[in-house]
Amino acid sequence: MWNPALISLCFGFLFQNVHGQDENCYDDQGTPKVCLTLFMNPALGKPVEATNTCGQTGPTEYCPVGQRTCKVCDSTDPGNSHPANFITDSYDFYGRTWWQSDTMLEGIRYPVVVNLTIDLKKAYDITYMTLRFKSPRPDSFAIYKKTAPGSDWTPYQFFSTSCQSTYGKQDVSGRWLIQTSEPNEAFCKSEYGDIFPFSNGRIPFSTLEGRPGANDFDNSPVLQEWVTASAIRISLTRMNTLGDEDFGGDRALKSYYYAISDFEIGARCKCNGHANECYLPENQVADHEVCRCQHNTGGVNCEKCLPLYNDRPWAGAAESSANECQRCECNGKADRCYFDENLYQTTGRGGRCVDCRDNTDGPQCERCKDNFVRGANGECESATPVL
Ligand SMILES: *[C@@H]1O[C@H](CO)[C@@H](O)[C@H](O)[C@H]1NC(C)=O
Repeated sequence: MWNPALISLCFGFLFQNVHGQDENCYDDQGTPKVCLTLFMNPALGKPVEATNTCGQTGPTEYCPVGQRTCKVCDSTDPGNSHPANFITDSYDFYGRTWWQSDTMLEGIRYPVVVNLTIDLKKAYDITYMTLRFKSPRPDSFAIYKKTAPGSDWTPYQFFSTSCQSTYGKQDVSGRWLIQTSEPNEAFCKSEYGDIFPFSNGRIPFSTLEGRPGANDFDNSPVLQEWVTASAIRISLTRMNTLGDEDFGGDRALKSYYYAISDFEIGARCKCNGHANECYLPENQVADHEVCRCQHNTGGVNCEKCLPLYNDRPWAGAAESSANECQRCECNGKADRCYFDENLYQTTGRGGRCVDCRDNTDGPQCERCKDNFVRGANGECESATPVL
């Protein structure tokens, strides 16, 4: 069984410290260089939304597979409630807190799907995820992601003992390198689909495992987008059973439900190589972390240049170049500029200054406006003498 630390070691290195990168965004001489935020779990403490949770319309009974006694789920009783937020509360080795769905008796059964959604609210570079089940692991489920807030859900990974018939995908279990036409195609795996163990089974998902091109991650925009996620959805499709759900009566039906004790994500706050830290802004409307951008960049993910630093196009920092944003020359007469491709082609500098002050004009506020002339003090003065 893979453990997360091992997965992180084996696959995380692809975009972590392989080049001896560290946290600093500048070297000793003050030269900009690519930098990284800390490896962390962005799901920790985040709210989770479930489309179904047990005990919400009064107490219900469930009977864990392999146990003699039945138990009660009741959302109004703190000792017996299993809300979705319990999968991202602090990690607990014994799985004492968990989320749980209704049972088959209440109608949770294929093709009824139960979704668990975690909104991370900003982009993270995901290395791996681990789910730990309190119930037996499902027969079939899918993981979806949103790349950016506001984008559509895209499939990230499928797990199923019937990849082809349930999800229309080929089973790629056990393959070291997976042949695929698209580097960003979601795979389907049949491993972990067994009903054993009845409890505490884990399921790891490593975003780059087996993916062609992963060893050239720095030069693959497709894979860089692939590991980027701002929201995660677990879509539970079909439960595992012992095969007695159709003749075992209520007792059998009460033993089938989904229960998850932990959901962990191994990731870095995504700052495009331009920040070494994410922080929660104080007294702000934003209820999520933002990058503390360096290299003259700005935005939640350092995805743009600061207003006066658009002399060349924005680019993410890479090992070969930090691609720091460059200051426009506005002769002190403007606070903003935008990148102008034509200007860049003809002059080698693309920054076109906006709103030049003191009657100046030109791409760099370098000349006087029409009908103004440079006066003795160097300022632009009206060409028509005041009478
Ligand atoms: C569950 O998630 C999937 C994938 O995003 C979506 O297509 C489906 O409508 C969702 N179902 C429910 C009940 O929310």
